[in-house]
Amino acid sequence: TYVVGEQCIKCKYTDCVEVCPVDCFYEGENMLVINPDECIDCGVCEPECPAEAIFPDTEDGIEKWAELNREYASQWPNITRKIDALPEADAMKGVADKLDKFFS
Ligand code: SF4
Ligand code: F3S
Repeated sequence: TYVVGEQCIKCKYTDCVEVCPVDCFYEGENMLVINPDECIDCGVCEPECPAEAIFPDTEDGIEKWAELNREYASQWPNITRKIDALPEADAMKGVADKLDKFFS
């Protein structure tokens, strides 16, 4: 499966949503997650993300984010169409350690 990582927080460009053939992205206030039970591992979303926030679950250090994707995919609503990025997206792109902004 593929996983949305920390780089998505406060960006949420949603280009990924447009290309996913199985609509397995779920939307929180500040980031999206992928439902690992629905992702078919096609990989097409990975290069589409302007924030380079999407990784295969074999990536080093992604385990914590894989768990978070699974947990929130069952709580957040499905998103199937691109929407406007967050207003602060370009300023927050590439900023490190954004986990504290996950809920705010
Ligand atoms: Fe969707 Fe493919 Fe990305 Fe999985 S890897 S989230 S199926 S686009
Ligand atoms: Fe997030 Fe990138 Fe998609 S910033 S919403 S994973 S295009």
